[in-house]
Amino acid sequence: MRIVLIGAPGAGKGVYAQYFREKYCIPHISTGDIFREEIAKGTELGLRVKQYVERGLLVPDEIVINIVKEKLKQPNMQRGFILDGFPRTLVQAKALDEITRIDIAIHLLVSEEVAVKRLSGRRVCPKCGRVYNIYYEPKPREDEKCDYDGVQLIQRQDDNPEVVKQRYRVFYETLTPVLEYYTSTRRLLEVNADKSLSEILPLLEKILVDIGVLKLNPCKDVKID
Ligand code: AP5
Repeated sequence: MRIVLIGAPGAGKGVYAQYFREKYCIPHISTGDIFREEIAKGTELGLRVKQYVERGLLVPDEIVINIVKEKLKQPNMQRGFILDGFPRTLVQAKALDEITRIDIAIHLLVSEEVAVKRLSGRRVCPKCGRVYNIYYEPKPREDEKCDYDGVQLIQRQDDNPEVVKQRYRVFYETLTPVLEYYTSTRRLLEVNADKSLSEILPLLEKILVDIGVLKLNPCKDVKID
């Protein structure tokens, strides 16, 4: 259950990771979430990466690789994990295979037009990190409040259309060698992520169960954080 989710901004990496995390108790590591937390706390790491994240640029490989390496050492990662937003470059993909062998890389393909619309409607719970959308499901039940915490949802700073377009462009600049790497090692699965969640989720889940990457075991008594 070592899964990598690759996809441009708005492809749905966070939403799928959240779904599999809750249903299959697989820990979810989002490098973007880690950076936003560090920035919000004003740590040394946060200060180093702020300039990149806010401008939609890639954080240098060395910084990201070290963070993921440390995360993957944690005991709760030993049963498996979902990596969201890492690797984004060939250097990161190769470094990851030196840390641990991943089972499958899922490339979620999304068009720029769809990504911009989704991200302009995205809202996030600052407490639990759950992701919602004001245009699409999952919508918050009560206006702009988290269904679980009741906390006012926020909009990410880098979700304005200009920064989204920049992030989208930057993402595709380094993607080709990453896809070639996973294709050559027969671990790439491509999914049309422009479709609705209700179309994609069951299909993706079925494929992952069929190929043995997801195990249909209950989550009872499993601590994932
Ligand atoms: P990161 O946080 O990873 O941002 P991103 O890759 O730009 O991805 P997003 O979080 O915007 O998109 P997502 O695919 O997770 O979409 P979501 O599921 O939320 O990275 C931020 C920054 O950190 C980067 O720009 C970079 O600076 C730095 N960084 C991070 N990792 C790095 C790395 N490895 N190397 C270097 N730098 C790194 O969905 C979006 C919205 O759409 C949601 O509201 C959702 O509900 C909705 N939605 C999703 N799918 C559907 C669907 N099928 N139908 C309808 N609505 C949908």
